[in-house]
Amino acid sequence: MPTVLITGCSSGFGLETARLFIDRGWNVVATMRKPQPEILPSSERLIVLALDITNPDSVAQAVSDAGPIDVLVNNAGFGAPIPVELTPLETARALFETNTLGTLAMTQAVLPQFRERSAGVIINVTSTVTLRPLPLVGVYRASKAAVNAFTESLAVEVEPFGVRVRLVLPGRSPETRFSATAREHLYGVDHPAYAPLFQRVLAGFQDTTVPITRAPDVAQAIWRAAIDPTAPMRIAAGADAELWMAQAS
Ligand SMILES: NC(=O)c1ccc[n+]([C@@H]2O[C@H](COP(=O)([O-])OP(=O)(O)OC[C@H]3O[C@@H](n4cnc5c(N)ncnc54)[C@H](OP(=O)(O)O)[C@@H]3O)[C@@H](O)[C@H]2O)c1
Repeated sequence: MPTVLITGCSSGFGLETARLFIDRGWNVVATMRKPQPEILPSSERLIVLALDITNPDSVAQAVSDAGPIDVLVNNAGFGAPIPVELTPLETARALFETNTLGTLAMTQAVLPQFRERSAGVIINVTSTVTLRPLPLVGVYRASKAAVNAFTESLAVEVEPFGVRVRLVLPGRSPETRFSATAREHLYGVDHPAYAPLFQRVLAGFQDTTVPITRAPDVAQAIWRAAIDPTAPMRIAAGADAELWMAQAS
């Protein structure tokens, strides 16, 4: 059976994706900053490893401990709702460090084994916010749009080596820990110029009366990217994501 390594399995899309691949008989290397094997079903086909994608030693150790893998899913990431003008550079650096450079580091770490075997799939989870100029997510969007950009170039570079690369773009999912983590980074909510925008946008973040994305939608899109060579380069995940993708094309 093939082996998938997934980043950010402690919750949300990563956790759901690990469950789906275990259910479908794959070997799963579920990685987390703080390993909690008990949140996944016990299985002989599951390994849980520590991995912080912003730490080069952690990346090298996890990829070495995982052994040969067939599919890498770069899912780990976080958001920060802040107007561009007010985004502390420290927060901007942290967003790019995790969402962009962490994804790049993992991609670089597995590519040599994929090239040598003339096989392998890299799936990078970005976001449909990259498709629209939404307010308060400017730097987060930039960190994910950068992943879209390098992933699409990478796909052209490694296709001759037999390596496939895909993007999965989820829509808004209030069900994961994403919003709670993003709230920890919220900044400028009381700024007189931006307070009305915050009120409007944050109310919309909680709205569940409109189409949303559920974790199984994302796991299913990642599954498709892994097994279906005819899957498009950009795969929308979630009812809202599919609408946005259709409107963007
Ligand atoms: N939920 C949404 O609305 C939404 C929409 C579009 C795209 N996305 C993207 O989908 C992905 C998964 O998000 P989610 O909704 O499932 O959120 P989530 O429940 O907060 O999960 C995010 C995961 O990323 C991990 N992570 C964060 N920084 C990390 C690092 N430096 N190294 C390793 N792991 C790290 C977290 O681990 P810890 O537990 O250690 O923090 C957690 O496991 C993210 O890339 C996110 O940007 C989310």
